[in-house]
Amino acid sequence: MILDIETRPESGFSEAWLPLLQSAADAAEHVEGVSVRTAVHLLITNDQEIHTINKAYREIDRATDVLSFPTVSYPSGTHAGTAPGLLEQEYDPDEGAACLGDIIISMDHVRSQALEYGHSLERELCYLLVHGLFHLFGYDHMQEDEKRAMREMEEKTLAEIQVREYDQDVLIAKAKEALTFSYSPYSLYRVGACLLGKSGKMYTGCNIESASYGATNCAERTALFKAVSEGEREFVAIAVATEKFLGWPCGICRQALYEFAPDLQVIVACGDLVDTASLRELLPHGFGAAPDVLGRE
Ligand code: THU
Repeated sequence: MILDIETRPESGFSEAWLPLLQSAADAAEHVEGVSVRTAVHLLITNDQEIHTINKAYREIDRATDVLSFPTVSYPSGTHAGTAPGLLEQEYDPDEGAACLGDIIISMDHVRSQALEYGHSLERELCYLLVHGLFHLFGYDHMQEDEKRAMREMEEKTLAEIQVREYDQDVLIAKAKEALTFSYSPYSLYRVGACLLGKSGKMYTGCNIESASYGATNCAERTALFKAVSEGEREFVAIAVATEKFLGWPCGICRQALYEFAPDLQVIVACGDLVDTASLRELLPHGFGAAPDVLGRE
């Protein structure tokens, strides 16, 4: 795909993301099975400009994350991959490709949504581009089944590219904030944790001690139990913050986390020191739940 990218300097877009965007666009085409050479115009701007465009072209008086304006109108049930003839009608000799339309992305929304969903900026940016591209390929999310089909294509596309999923620094900052709530009058060892769910929601926890010592709950399990008790059962990463030295999760926490997320990434942070490992490394030959117990198969 020819991605014709225009960026506004005030958007805060980094040129370093260009190859990643190209790979996301190529992956979307691959997943969709587009057989025609195509071109898309992408404008990366800020909330102010996307607001103006939204108002002018859609009469919606607010900023948004992504807008797409397809050139092709696909008959119901057809998409770019199944309608090469329709794409060929959009052939532009100047581009040497079929022009599928325009996408506009607001970096202000990329930043705020990345924070909200615990995603890296690159992940959020790629997601919005891919979402816009599938609109240009004829997908929509007005009805539940359409929405599901579109989400599935988006997920397949993101799985094909190498993008940093989440921002480690955000998880660490939240774990450090949670540490300040630690109730640890007996050990005086304060711990904070931030667990990132697959939904993008983050759950924080601190260690909570007890005069009966044994009733103590570690920060990691506080975060995990908060998450599971709110309906989240799949997890991407956990950050653990301590003050005196890097504190890897204890054996009980490793086991409790392994139940739900054997592939969890574990980040430990103490001041400026950071280290990472996978939970599988921390709990080799782990004993875990069968997939059917978790309802995943
Ligand atoms: N602690 C945690 O919060 N997480 C761990 O993985 C190790 C230990 C807490 C429990 C207790 O409040 C204090 O640290 C000392 O063991």
